[in-house]
Amino acid sequence: MIGKANGARIGITGLGVNVPAKVVTNDDLAKFVDTSDEWIIERTGIRERRFATQDEALTDIARPACLQALASAGVEASSIDLVLCATVTPDMMFPTSSALLADQLGMPDAAAYDLLAGCTGFVYAIAQAYGMLASGLSRRALVVGADVLSKLLDFDDRSTLVLFGDGAGAVVMEPVKKGGFLGFELGADGGGGESLWLPGSGSRHFENPESFVKMNGREVYKFATRVLVSSAQKLLDEVGMTVDDVDVYVPHQANIRIIDHAARKLGFPPEKVVVNVQKYGNTSSGSIPLALADAATDGRLKPGAKVLMTGMGAGLTWGSGLIEWTEEMAA
Ligand code: UT7
Repeated sequence: MIGKANGARIGITGLGVNVPAKVVTNDDLAKFVDTSDEWIIERTGIRERRFATQDEALTDIARPACLQALASAGVEASSIDLVLCATVTPDMMFPTSSALLADQLGMPDAAAYDLLAGCTGFVYAIAQAYGMLASGLSRRALVVGADVLSKLLDFDDRSTLVLFGDGAGAVVMEPVKKGGFLGFELGADGGGGESLWLPGSGSRHFENPESFVKMNGREVYKFATRVLVSSAQKLLDEVGMTVDDVDVYVPHQANIRIIDHAARKLGFPPEKVVVNVQKYGNTSSGSIPLALADAATDGRLKPGAKVLMTGMGAGLTWGSGLIEWTEEMAA
């Protein structure tokens, strides 16, 4: 799916993030599996990540991010009429985490539902909210990207344990006077789904649930390096822009080698690329909003800046969104 914005100016007016307090270093994980700080840093760029405690579930991590996003937009919770939560680790399958968050935050008039698109979830969700807002069906949306993948990690599997972390981000989206989203490109390849999956998570395997993430790292690596480049290129072609028009590149934070490869192939100089995988690992749906927040903190999200976000992950899925940041948006 690919498309230019249809003339409606829909932007991000508030941004909030949150990570659990518990820091887990590479050395901490080396107590569980045969790995080392050197291997993890060299092969992934990850130095540490955050893990939720046993008592912390998805909505506990996401709620502070939502409150921060509402405060940064300067809007009342009750004015939100759509809550979308992209996650593969909801508190439970139902009620949805979006419905729980809408209730906890005080949004009695909001439609609320969860969206499952692996690590691409946040990009899918902002595209979905864009459509709802551009059509006039929604007037103000809260879009959450959050995961607590530590809950699904096998502490005996070094090929997955060292990669993931927990984190949440949220944005308020609504009509803006200037700038806003310029287009989206989204895709999925279920044929590659078993390269990154949770076998016992649904109706096919209830008798013998395997409740840990399984991954073919090399396959996902090949997929990731391909789609990060192709999705960005297709979207830029669609909106009639080039890499030179993009001021800030926000790729999914899975592995520094994947990010470096995509940036090099696309032609982004390092100063345009947002990288925070070293401190959070791969936070799945939380990854892109957490990276946006770091870009905001270091002053890169200036009014007029064109920001290209590209995610990829389980499904297999991928997706890009391009936005022009304006003064009305959080920075
Ligand atoms: O949102 C999408 C989520 N997933 C991803 O983005 C993952 C994409 N894939 C990757 O990032 C990389 O493939 C990995 C980081 C998972 C692995 O890096 P690699 O350079 O592709 O390593 P490899 O799988 O080719 O394995 C090389 C060696 C193997 O040992 P042998 O067979 O050569 O003896 C692995 O068993 O490294 C071994 N290995 C480890 N060694 C120490 C695998 N994991 C570890 C580990 N510590 N944690």
